[in-house]
Amino acid sequence: MKRTPFDLLVVFLAIIPLHFASSETLPSTSPMKCHEQERSALLEFKQSLFHPYVETCPPSKLESWRLEDGNCCSWEGVKCDEGMGYLTGLDLSESCLSGPIDSKASLFRLPHMQSLNLAWNDFNLSQIPSAIGGLVKLTSLNLSSSNFEGQIPSQVLKLTNLTSLDLSQNYGLELRNPSVETLVQFLTKLEHLDLSSLNVSAPVPDAITNLSSLTSLVLQNCNLRGTFPTTIFKLPRLQLLDLGFNPKLSGHLPEFHLHSPIKSLSLQETNFSSSLPASLGNLAFLSEFHIGQSNFSGNIPSSIGNLTQLTILSFQYNKLSGKIPSSLGKLIQLSYLDLGKNLLSREIPAEITGLTRLTYLDLSFNRLNGPIPENISNLENLDYLVLQSNNLNGTLRLDVILKLQHLNMLQLSSNKFSSIIVPGMNASLPNLSVLGLASSNLSELPIFLSYQSRLQWLDLSQNRIYGPTPPWFLNVSVSQLQFLNLSRNSITGFIAFKWLNLKTLDLRSNDIQGLIPLPPKSIEFYLVSNNKLSGEISSEMCQLSSISILDLSKNKLSGVIPPCLSNLSDSLFVLSLSGNDLYGRFPQLQNDVCGLRMIDVSYNQLQGSLPQGLANCSDLEFLNIENNQIVDKFPSWMGSLSYLKVLILRSNRFHGAIGEPEARDQFPNLRIVDLSMNNFSGCLPSRYFDMWSAMKVHTADDARYYGTRVLTVYVFSLDDGKYDYSMTIINKGNFLEYKRILAYLNVIDLSSNNFIGEIPNFIGSLTELRMLNLSNNALTGSIPLSLANLTELEALDLSSNKLSGMIPPALAQLSFLAFFNVSDNHLYGPIPQVNQFTTFKVDSYGGNLGLCGVPLTKKCGNPVEALPAPPSGALAENLDWKIVLMGFGSGLVIGVVMGLNTTSRIERQFLRFYRGWQRRRIHQIRFV
Ligand SMILES: *[C@@H]1O[C@H](CO)[C@@H](O)[C@H](O)[C@H]1NC(C)=O
Ligand SMILES: *[C@@H]1O[C@H](CO)[C@@H](O)[C@H](O)[C@H]1NC(C)=O
Ligand SMILES: *[C@@H]1O[C@H](CO)[C@@H](O)[C@H](O)[C@H]1NC(C)=O
Ligand SMILES: *[C@@H]1O[C@H](CO)[C@@H](O)[C@H](O)[C@H]1NC(C)=O
Ligand SMILES: *[C@@H]1O[C@H](CO)[C@@H](O)[C@H](O)[C@H]1NC(C)=O
Ligand SMILES: *[C@@H]1O[C@H](CO)[C@@H](O)[C@H](O)[C@H]1NC(C)=O
Repeated sequence: MKRTPFDLLVVFLAIIPLHFASSETLPSTSPMKCHEQERSALLEFKQSLFHPYVETCPPSKLESWRLEDGNCCSWEGVKCDEGMGYLTGLDLSESCLSGPIDSKASLFRLPHMQSLNLAWNDFNLSQIPSAIGGLVKLTSLNLSSSNFEGQIPSQVLKLTNLTSLDLSQNYGLELRNPSVETLVQFLTKLEHLDLSSLNVSAPVPDAITNLSSLTSLVLQNCNLRGTFPTTIFKLPRLQLLDLGFNPKLSGHLPEFHLHSPIKSLSLQETNFSSSLPASLGNLAFLSEFHIGQSNFSGNIPSSIGNLTQLTILSFQYNKLSGKIPSSLGKLIQLSYLDLGKNLLSREIPAEITGLTRLTYLDLSFNRLNGPIPENISNLENLDYLVLQSNNLNGTLRLDVILKLQHLNMLQLSSNKFSSIIVPGMNASLPNLSVLGLASSNLSELPIFLSYQSRLQWLDLSQNRIYGPTPPWFLNVSVSQLQFLNLSRNSITGFIAFKWLNLKTLDLRSNDIQGLIPLPPKSIEFYLVSNNKLSGEISSEMCQLSSISILDLSKNKLSGVIPPCLSNLSDSLFVLSLSGNDLYGRFPQLQNDVCGLRMIDVSYNQLQGSLPQGLANCSDLEFLNIENNQIVDKFPSWMGSLSYLKVLILRSNRFHGAIGEPEARDQFPNLRIVDLSMNNFSGCLPSRYFDMWSAMKVHTADDARYYGTRVLTVYVFSLDDGKYDYSMTIINKGNFLEYKRILAYLNVIDLSSNNFIGEIPNFIGSLTELRMLNLSNNALTGSIPLSLANLTELEALDLSSNKLSGMIPPALAQLSFLAFFNVSDNHLYGPIPQVNQFTTFKVDSYGGNLGLCGVPLTKKCGNPVEALPAPPSGALAENLDWKIVLMGFGSGLVIGVVMGLNTTSRIERQFLRFYRGWQRRRIHQIRFV
């Protein structure tokens, strides 16, 4: 086996203590001689579990335990009592113990032991031996991070003198029988209890309130449920309470009384809610306060200024509103202040600049306005300053902020500054590693950057930077820069890149002309879409062996896609070449390994057939080859791509019958399939419809978009570093660009082909379908009744076919249907006159000689039974739209599309209201 430097280091570390040991004289100072049985129990224990040559093993105390040394009381980690010389304490934390342990272990033959620490060893998923219950004198037991598993033995309940119990970080350890409740009923003397990362899966028992000596209670990440008993906050000695990372634990803060001894309180990532009580100000000893990622709302009480011992305050990711109290300025010990991602408004109080010990200040993603206080330069210890995404306005005095000599991370992006003053040439500046000035009104690349040698992350996107890039810029932090975002400026040129370690380069939406600038070999994400690049894709791109996202879309690139690009198929996740002038064949994948998740070559002039090598891309989620000249049959071989969600073959030269699937469970995840504008023929693929099971299942996570996570050193951007997939499809009769695709959008578009035969009944099983377009084919038979089961359907286009029969009245149940077109068929009979059908215009029905009823002028001879009428126009106009929309907002699906919609706002509001009304049949809505 090859030895790595690390192996050598381990061996080296293991040898040093032995070396010292041999030259050391035996300690003669200790007056105590230990008992021989205890000495042999210790040696036996060492023998059975000490494996110092295990990798990552640090120097261990057990090295000093030697057979020839008779006085075990002097061994490292061993403590004996002064009088009798019995072993009373054993600290073997982090001692390279490894392997299983059980009740026979010699350790349990040390009956005088009062304190036992076995933390940070590896007992190989043993159960805690029941013999532990024999060590009745134990006052302190620490088994933290020792790889114990299974139920905690009931014998632990015998250890009634325990004052400190730490079982934390043993991930498979269970507390069911005995439960936490039983535990605290028996161990009433507990002062310290740490059960972090144990799977408790139960509410916090009230019985903890009886532990009157409790000073620290740590129940982090225990999967706690229910409501936290508020009385626990009032335990007379409690100094440390940590309930963090229990997202299912609810609760609220009590009224705190004066003289509460609490020093540290963590409710981070819990479901604690309500507001912060003014009595918080009574926690005079509070030094750390964490409530980030919870559910707190309301104002920050000004009494917070009474917590003068506070050093850490982390309130991020709640719903706190109102202004930042100026009393915060009294917290002169504060070194860490995070109020980011709340709903705070008004100005940053000036007083905040009195907190001269601050090293970390995050007020990002709030609604703060006004200027950044000028004396922010008083915060001379500041290392981290993040104020992005507020409404801060006025002039951005970067020259003032950059007087902070310790500043390391500075993120001011996405505010409303009207102008910016950058530091002068000879100013002495801090060496930043992160700088975010997106959307900050910069009109050129600020020259002070040329003195920055440690920048790793630089975001200057959404400014007004124009023209070619000056040569000095290419030398900024040449060896350090990893992330550079210059997107959405007016940069015209980039010659070459010198950055040696650049991983992300985002130049989207500029005016860059000429050939594609070749990024350095270290590049992972290269995004240059929406520029004016021309020429061919050079085969040098194929050398970028670390690249995972390559987006060259919307340029003027021509020529063929270099076949060698397929060499990158194992590192590439995303390949987007859409909207160029590329021709020739889509490259064959020469590599068996394909990691591609997204391929978009739409809007080019590619020819030939689809490469079957794509079947190796087992992670493929998105394939768009819209608008090319691909000649092929339906790629049934893609059916095995079990993650494929979006398949767009629109506007090519696909032909022939789709046929029936050859295997089971084909395209199990498909949600958007657009085969329109090809030459497909034969019957509609009814058995495929039945297999597209993702269109039958409701997705709970409605707000998710399709995309790929962009992992980068520091993610500070609004979109949290995600690369969104986009597409263009026909929605409700309009061509729409979706800049992002919501995960629940289910679409079948088979329009403008030569399909014949009937619409299969199976289609009614795709109950989550939002849009169905079968127009411009030669379909016959009647409109299947089963369509009435597509209750989420928003658009149904069956126009220009040869359909006959009546419009099934049951379609009127489709309460979200906003677009309906059956024109140019052979339909007859009455048009339904209720619900959504009252909103469709003549265009929906034209060219069907047999149809009758409103909106057509032809009257029906034999009227269908009258159904209740919708609210009249007059009534609708008088609605208080705000109230209506408040009631229905969450259930609706409009507004997620970035494109246009032809109906007027009022009409849309009416539709929304009316659909909701139909759906829920609520009559208690008030009309005003
Ligand atoms: C730990 O347990 C596993 C399986 O239970 C076993 O294969 C392995 O040898 C054990 N390790 C030691 C050091 O005993
Ligand atoms: C528990 O502690 C008490 C008070 O220190 C002591 O009297 C008693 O002997 C201890 N119990 C055991 C089993 O050691
Ligand atoms: C348990 O031991 C570890 C390692 O020595 C230590 O970090 C931790 O604080 C101890 N727990 C308690 C409650 O003292
Ligand atoms: C606590 O804060 C409130 C509000 O700021 C103030 O009125 C009160 O005097 C303070 N109490 C103490 C003990 O400082
Ligand atoms: C900043 O915004 C606030 C609130 O919108 C406004 O009152 C103030 O005039 C603005 N200041 C400047 C300098 O634009
Ligand atoms: C509609 O769905 C129901 C319940 O799933 C089913 O019983 C019925 O047969 C379906 N109707 C049609 C016409 O497919």
